[in-house]
Amino acid sequence: MTYHSFKKYIYKLDPEHAHEITESIARNLGDYLPFLLFFVRAYYKKTNCRLSQNILGIEFENPVGLGAGFDKNATMIKALEAVGFGYVEVGTVTPKPQPGNPKPRLFRFPEYNSLQNAMGFNNEGVRFFKQRLKEIYPYKIPIGANIGKNKVTPEDKAIEDYKILVDEVKDISDYIVVNISSPNTPGLRDLQNEKFINELFSMAKEKTSKPVFLKIAPDMSSDDALLLCKSAINSRADGIIATNTTIDYKVLPNAKDFGGVSGRVLKEKSFLLFKEIAKEFYGKTTLISVGGIDSGDEAYKRIKAGASLVQVLSALIFEGPYLVSHINNRMLELMKRDGFNTISQAVGADL
Ligand SMILES: Cc1cc2nc3c(=O)[nH]c(=O)nc-3n(C[C@H](O)[C@H](O)[C@H](O)COP(=O)(O)O)c2cc1C
Repeated sequence: MTYHSFKKYIYKLDPEHAHEITESIARNLGDYLPFLLFFVRAYYKKTNCRLSQNILGIEFENPVGLGAGFDKNATMIKALEAVGFGYVEVGTVTPKPQPGNPKPRLFRFPEYNSLQNAMGFNNEGVRFFKQRLKEIYPYKIPIGANIGKNKVTPEDKAIEDYKILVDEVKDISDYIVVNISSPNTPGLRDLQNEKFINELFSMAKEKTSKPVFLKIAPDMSSDDALLLCKSAINSRADGIIATNTTIDYKVLPNAKDFGGVSGRVLKEKSFLLFKEIAKEFYGKTTLISVGGIDSGDEAYKRIKAGASLVQVLSALIFEGPYLVSHINNRMLELMKRDGFNTISQAVGADL
């Protein structure tokens, strides 16, 4: 049964319920039936050394990662590795557990291959997260920890939450991502200012030598985005992840008036901002592109535009787990067409 025939049953379920079932299957496979992952891996995972790179001292066997928000509690890493992801970003995790926003808060728009979510960092908190990661870290593929403040923490105390989080995750992850770009925690995006970013990265880089990234929102002018990236890089951030979901509801017909939009309708907006950032910072920092990536062609375009790595999330819901090897196989074809032996030769080739 292909994912596409299976999809019509999944789509009968509320999207969040469907995700809970997926999480339960993936977690149980990893925790109790790891031998079955051998078959999953044999079916899905394609490795090719031409796709591997060493970035900031970390070995990535391919450049396709899972975006934050799918595996918020770090419970699915083994299954995600088996379907072929080159790395997985888990979280967003907050210091204390929190339930997130009221349901329903996740909506599918299958006709646009897009999602809208107002989850609000629902997660089990950093203690649980750390426990899960302690059991497997270091793992076969790199693991990024995406961190965010609790909803109840006022903005003027936000730095304290990030301090706790950096301390807790620095020894159980390969890189850290500071998330101040989710639209679903009131006031969070206000932290996307120079002063806070300086304070945040100076603090984080004093605590750890692991790479620390800033993840930014697509809903600002390119000038503002460039200023933010510049202050992050000046404060020793190791890279930029662009972008999170958008609150520009015009991109999605019949969108709700809350939450963030992702998937195909975000593709252009996210890429435009990414390109502006890459023009300015390619070669000066490490860039990761995320937002509407759903094919090998799109992933390869982002890589040639300056991304060392890419991430997918929404397209996984619409295309299924085979998406990862589709993207990698197609990139290998495109690399051959362009005469690149290794993926790192393609990074930034359009610049
Ligand atoms: C249901 C859902 C939950 C998400 N949760 C998070 C999150 O917790 N932290 C985060 O940094 N990004 C989160 N995101 C944003 C994604 O990581 C990604 O940046 C965005 O969806 C754009 O990529 P896509 O178009 O491939 O989905 C979430 C996205 C979705 C759809």
